Amino acid sequence: MPNALTITDQRNNKTYEAPIENGTIRAMDLRKIKTDPEDFGLMTYDPAFMNTASCKSSITFIDGDKGILRYRGYDIEALAEKCTYLQVAYLLLHGELPTPEQDQQWTYEITHHTMLHENIKNFVDGFRYDAHPMGILVSTLAALSTFYPEAKNVHDPEIRQRQIVRLIAKIATVAAYSYRHRRGLPYVYPDNDLSYTENFMNMLWKMPEPKYVASPVIARALDVLFILHADHEQNCSAATMRVVGSSQADPYLSMAAAASALSGPLHGGANEEVLRMLDEIGSVKNIPAYIKRVKAGELKLMGFGHRVYKNYDPRARIIKAVANEVFEVTGRNEKLDIAIELERIALQDDYFVQRKLYPNVDFYSGIIYQAMGFQPEMFTVLFAIPRAAGWLAQWSELVQDPEQKISRPRQVYTGISHRTLETADQKQTVHA
Ligand code: CMC
Repeated sequence: MPNALTITDQRNNKTYEAPIENGTIRAMDLRKIKTDPEDFGLMTYDPAFMNTASCKSSITFIDGDKGILRYRGYDIEALAEKCTYLQVAYLLLHGELPTPEQDQQWTYEITHHTMLHENIKNFVDGFRYDAHPMGILVSTLAALSTFYPEAKNVHDPEIRQRQIVRLIAKIATVAAYSYRHRRGLPYVYPDNDLSYTENFMNMLWKMPEPKYVASPVIARALDVLFILHADHEQNCSAATMRVVGSSQADPYLSMAAAASALSGPLHGGANEEVLRMLDEIGSVKNIPAYIKRVKAGELKLMGFGHRVYKNYDPRARIIKAVANEVFEVTGRNEKLDIAIELERIALQDDYFVQRKLYPNVDFYSGIIYQAMGFQPEMFTVLFAIPRAAGWLAQWSELVQDPEQKISRPRQVYTGISHRTLETADQKQTVHA
């Protein structure tokens, strides 16, 4: 079977061949389709990148119809069961799980880069007492760029690696500072004796007691949630990381942009919105009326639907199981009953069935985070911490890809083609 697409231009009956590779044709092959030599050539029009592959990537695989998610070929279910978040971060970045020696070295490096420059404390203090933690996170990531000017050497592998370690290590500390600032609590310095998640919990919740002891169940649940959120191929924030990174901006600035993209309610900000929605619904008996409003187009069911998954999001299934383990320690979050009933009703309703709308990662995560003691404002920050690994893996791949250049889409111009500017003098002459 020949591996090419034959295109006939009905405007002039000319025929063209476009080779097919990996189920795609090169958009640039369409440029030669012209009606006359002055013609610019054909482009594709694809608002929101519904059907455009912008890169080749070997990091994350999703089969949206089957509900499959794999990092570097490993099923997400297996990684969530057997690995730590830091091992998964290593896998995303290096393509292989670490050997025991590499694991030890990697953990040591991350642990020893969790401290922030003291100026960052003053920087965070400058925010209003009730500043949204995502605003603090985004701004502080950008501010870190000013502390590491060498980071702009994005083509130097050693410098790149140093920033990767710093970002994965420091984002958890920045997140904890943003949490403590909002609560008016003094910042807690990292503790190198603790694991990544235990250290994070220590920085969040340590009070004057001599030694905070993290619950091993909560620490492991947080670690699993971090694994589930670590990467998700070319989503809105990963695409942002790549677009900004393509201009050779340093990774701190690119990651600030990616985190900004994540904050939106249609992306990572959805977990915060789910909790607000469950609060608004208030009780199981109000669900049918709420679903009616969703179907009338008044509202969206937050935590439902996905651009790629047209089946159950595998992450949502794992999160539901983790929720039960967490509730054993924290007590049951009564919002779970509303969420379960909402899911049950929605999954039987034609509106959702026909549109293949299933719960996504954000539907149940907030309920666990709330049971752990987080306010909804922190939920998207908790998404951003592990997504740092994915953003950096995507960025590293981009920087080393010889096919990539600065991102620069085309447009279909729909404005006025040309007009002449009249000066005030000319206007006066005309109107006199
Ligand atoms: N509630 C009600 N209707 C929905 C929903 C929803 N959550 N999501 C999609 N639809 C409808 C939509 O109105 C449209 O209907 P119609 O064909 O009649 O116009 C149809 O389903 C197709 O939706 P779409 O908006 O064209 O789909 P999309 O691929 O552009 O959007 C989405 C994907 C995730 C932005 C969207 O499903 C949504 O807004 N969901 C709620 C927000 C949310 O939970 N976001 C988190 C996504 S997962 C975390 C992550 O970002 O990684």
